[in-house]
Amino acid sequence: MNTAILERSAGPAAETAACRAGEKKLLEISGLTVAFNKNGRRGVVLDDISLNIPRGRIVGLVGESGCGKTVLGSTIIGLLPERGAEIVSGEVNFHGGGGGEKENLLTLNYHGMKKYRGSKISMIFQEPMSSLNPVYTVGSQIDETIRNKNRDLTRAGIAARTVEILSKAGMPDPARVYSMYPHQLSGGMRQRVVIAIALANNPDLIIADEPTTALDITVSEQILFLLYNIREKFDSSIILITHDLSVVANVCDDIYVMYRGTIAECGRARDVFAAPRNPYTIGLMESLPEAGAHKKPLHVIRGSVPSIFTAIEGCKFRERCDKAAAICATPPPLKSAGETHYYRCHF
Ligand SMILES: Nc1ncnc2c1ncn2[C@@H]1O[C@H](COP(=O)(O)OP(=O)(O)OP(=O)(O)O)[C@@H](O)[C@H]1O
Ligand SMILES: [Mg+2]
Repeated sequence: MNTAILERSAGPAAETAACRAGEKKLLEISGLTVAFNKNGRRGVVLDDISLNIPRGRIVGLVGESGCGKTVLGSTIIGLLPERGAEIVSGEVNFHGGGGGEKENLLTLNYHGMKKYRGSKISMIFQEPMSSLNPVYTVGSQIDETIRNKNRDLTRAGIAARTVEILSKAGMPDPARVYSMYPHQLSGGMRQRVVIAIALANNPDLIIADEPTTALDITVSEQILFLLYNIREKFDSSIILITHDLSVVANVCDDIYVMYRGTIAECGRARDVFAAPRNPYTIGLMESLPEAGAHKKPLHVIRGSVPSIFTAIEGCKFRERCDKAAAICATPPPLKSAGETHYYRCHF
């Protein structure tokens, strides 16, 4: 493990290189800045984000509530709100199969994006009930997703594929669940339906936004195990959005720590967990409860994530950081702590 900070300076695209060596490219985001305009005010929600999702890897995106995780996922899949959201700059390049040709998803219109959404990229949304239609059966909702991309399949063929996908999503008794309505299922079963919809057309990239937050610990572990296996079986890449670092430690290959719309630290998960550099990452890790450590008080990061409409010069974390000094009023440089580990901090 690399414990010494390598004092070489990192170029602006270094985050995207952080996990790259020897891996096939799938999604590369560079210099992405997104703002919301509301009541005459403009708030930058994603500030010069660069990241790299290689093929077949699980990449954890972590940070407290309001850091911009969902907005980043929605930008990738082209589902930013039509009113108020503004893509200021940057590229979201998706690399196609075989020849490795790439396309900047931000340049596509609704129809251009339709060929990606659901077939090459799918998103599991934060709240399963909001992505299921309560008046249609589970089966008909998955059927529709399959039919949209497979016009040549017969009704029976689509239904058979739906049952098979439900089974792959770990659904007990999938043939029976096919005819059930979402409200007849438990939270864990609903989440499996949402995962089945995401898997229906074998996407290259799945964005899973807090897929386990509303579930109890055992069901949550089963869902994470399922996502882990999906990567193995389908060679899909997964962006796993969570505020729970222990989830990342258990299943992710790479990690991006977000704070107020910026990447505070990124790299191979094992490297970042072994020697975190950014005070925000360190704070998040110290606030993880340790099994058996009953008497040890939990570390708390003081304050909360400021609104995107509050202007902050320099390091966005400085008002909550114990290390903050005058220099933090200037933007922190991106530094390298090893071949696959980068962080932003003046210290
Ligand atoms: N449509 C919108 N208009 C204005 N501001 C918005 C909009 N959607 C999100 N925001 C703001 O953008 C910031 C990032 O929101 P986002 O939902 O991406 O956070 P998150 O990291 O996913 O948080 P959580 O962990 O709570 O899901 C927040 O400050 C939020 O209030
Ligand atoms: Mg969110």
